[in-house]
Amino acid sequence: MAISTKIAGIGHYVPEHEVTNNDLTKYMDTSDEWIRERTGIQSRRYAKKHENTTTTLGAEAAKIAIERAGIKKEDVDFIIFATLSPDYYFPGCGVLLQRELGITNTEVGALDIRNQCSGFIYGLSVADQFIKTGMYKNILLVGAEMHSMGLDFSTEGRGVTVIFGDGAGAVILQPTEKENQGILTTHLHSDGTHAEELAFINPGSHGGYHGDREKYGFPSEDKPGGIYMTQTMLDNDLIYPNMNGQLVFKNAVKKFPEVIMEALNKTGYSTTDLAMLIPHQANLRIAGFVQKLLKLRDDQVYNNIHKYGNTTAASIPIALSEAWEKKLIKEGDLVCLAAFGSGFTWGSALLHW
Ligand code: COA
Repeated sequence: MAISTKIAGIGHYVPEHEVTNNDLTKYMDTSDEWIRERTGIQSRRYAKKHENTTTTLGAEAAKIAIERAGIKKEDVDFIIFATLSPDYYFPGCGVLLQRELGITNTEVGALDIRNQCSGFIYGLSVADQFIKTGMYKNILLVGAEMHSMGLDFSTEGRGVTVIFGDGAGAVILQPTEKENQGILTTHLHSDGTHAEELAFINPGSHGGYHGDREKYGFPSEDKPGGIYMTQTMLDNDLIYPNMNGQLVFKNAVKKFPEVIMEALNKTGYSTTDLAMLIPHQANLRIAGFVQKLLKLRDDQVYNNIHKYGNTTAASIPIALSEAWEKKLIKEGDLVCLAAFGSGFTWGSALLHW
């Protein structure tokens, strides 16, 4: 009997503190109407500075996933942590999560994934290979973000800031030999052509971005980059992410359907067989476009971006966990996960729940 990888336990955690669109109007020139119309977002959650980090959010979700899988934290044999907002520049969140959960076994490996919005799909694909080869039996995969610590709350940053929120989701992955259970296929893609169009490039070894300096606000004489934060970066406000929203939008609406169909075609299924599509919660307009193009019914697509905004690596496991808690996904259901984002990187996973 062939071994495949099942999601044995799932959980999510979002901070209590809700920040509505109207709350943001206190800091920047924006409006509830603009944000709702363009993104579908009504509110997002912000974690507590000093009390939380990306790792502690991830740990809350991980504890739930571990309990629901019916295992103990000591049973976890590998950790994969996907985030773009890590606690530290280095080391990564994987080892911090190991410590936070009190896992003292040094046989456990910890891997960090830096694939932004598609980080969870990439993590799932990596975990799937490890499980299928028999190398690991209980992989903890976490997607978590604490965006609120890295956003520009002035009007200048509004194009990016209104979209993102904090949160975490986690799964425990185990081998299964059951028919109609587990991951059927995963598909990963990348195209670095537009790497800087949705990016947070400082600090970094580039030592100053030479391509489009003025577009990114770099002073023409200076080279503000560097692996570590410099005074020039701070003086020039080069400490926030930037996004070419329209370019991201155009690519997302093309790549989402492509990568979903790739997974369905590979396995001989069609859109009508899908019990649930969980798209990365980038923007409700993107999800709506994909749904329409693939002719999916409302009950075949799960969205929760209106409550949490875009939580990047956490968005798919949070949505999947919520859909499962609401009993919208049941054993044997065909579920597709799909993401597109910074890099650009994108991917999909098709599984039987
Ligand atoms: N509130 C009010 N006005 C805003 C604003 C905000 N939060 N952000 C931008 N604007 C303004 C702009 O300054 C611009 O004003 P101008 O016409 O006077 O110059 C105007 O709104 C239109 O800006 P534009 O960037 O062209 O808007 P848009 O229709 O492309 O919508 C996004 C912006 C970001 C919502 C849209 O491009 C998008 O959803 N892109 C995809 C982003 C995404 O999914 N990112 C996550 C990737 S995983």
